[in-house]
Amino acid sequence: MAGESRNWVLMVTAQTPTNIAVIKYWGKRDENLILPINDSISVTLDPNHLCTTTTVAVSPSFKQDRMWLNRKEISLSGGRYQNCLREIRNRACDVEDKKKGIKILKEDWGKLHLHIASYNNFPTAAGLASSAAGFACLVFALAKLMNLKEDQSQLSAIARQGSGSACRSLYGGFVKWIMGKEENGSDSLAVQLTDEKQWDDLVIVIAVVSSRQKETSSTSGMRESVKTSLLLQHRAKEIVPKRILQMEEAIKNCDFTSFAQLTCADSNQFHAVCMDSCPPIFYMNDTSHRIINIAEKWNRSEETPQVAYTFDAGPNAVLIARNRQTAALLIQRLLYYFPPNSDDLNSYVIGDKSILQDAGL
Ligand code: ADP
Ligand code: DP6
Ligand code: CO
Repeated sequence: MAGESRNWVLMVTAQTPTNIAVIKYWGKRDENLILPINDSISVTLDPNHLCTTTTVAVSPSFKQDRMWLNRKEISLSGGRYQNCLREIRNRACDVEDKKKGIKILKEDWGKLHLHIASYNNFPTAAGLASSAAGFACLVFALAKLMNLKEDQSQLSAIARQGSGSACRSLYGGFVKWIMGKEENGSDSLAVQLTDEKQWDDLVIVIAVVSSRQKETSSTSGMRESVKTSLLLQHRAKEIVPKRILQMEEAIKNCDFTSFAQLTCADSNQFHAVCMDSCPPIFYMNDTSHRIINIAEKWNRSEETPQVAYTFDAGPNAVLIARNRQTAALLIQRLLYYFPPNSDDLNSYVIGDKSILQDAGL
């Protein structure tokens, strides 16, 4: 280590988008390693929209590991943060910054402390996958700082130990989290199915119904479902394996009709599992249900579906439009049913602002 001076700080900043599952992960077979009971598939959002920005810094003057989330200090004592930090430190390599005259040897990383500052540009713990963007960004930034040699898939297996859905945010496009078979979780990792350029007609519109923190975190919600829902067992064993194959096929062929049917059905089944848990868990609210109705009626009035909807563990709608024209029509419809300043919808986040012009706004 450049032991002579204690004044240096080395830091890395990274930005990671969130991802939304179209075939949902809900239920763990191992709580500590975060191993799921089924495969899942997601789409990663545009990094310019919903994303986490994390800066990780190391300095010999830091006395302990510390972290700030959205400008407030949080405790790093939880198992998830500790597991990620341990896995990364174990793989750390030599780092040299000649300009600053800093050299950190592999073995020094165990003695150095970290300061981490992370910021989500969207609601945290509100069902828009902040844990996914957050832990993926943390692992990615630390891996850069400590010069890890692991590839994205291996890093995804570390991010998974922070939050399951995080393993899928290390890639763009459509991503599959393979549940794996190994007890130690070494084969439970993410792979990219197609990159972001492959099916670029799709437009994702997020309708923010509520930014409030949810009452039941994803972690405790799925724990209750695993303990009490028979529907979840059936879903994981019988339904999801077939849907995964169908969804992979739909994505490969850019087949929007199958994609929309599978996405909507899987979201609805996930929320049915929540209802089937004891006590039942309600993530969606009346506004979410109205949005489902609007999309269903519209899809049924056309020859083929125009929009897919999916809701994570929260009331906020993620709407995936077939193309730009459909996205513009979708926004017009939403504004008709939820006029500006209505209490039911807070805001929209859309992939490309020029769509608002197409929608005449
Ligand atoms: P969400 O639906 O937003 O993913 P979860 O209940 O799954 O909600 O997870 C929320 C938790 O994820 C937060 O309470 C926090 O512990 C963690 N988290 C959120 N954002 C970050 C971040 N940027 N960095 C690290 N951890 C984060
Ligand atoms: C409904 O990944 O947030 O968003 O692994 O306990 O951190 P933990 O849970 P998390 O659960 C996500 C659940 C979901 C579906 C999905 O993203 O696949
Ligand atoms: Co989450």
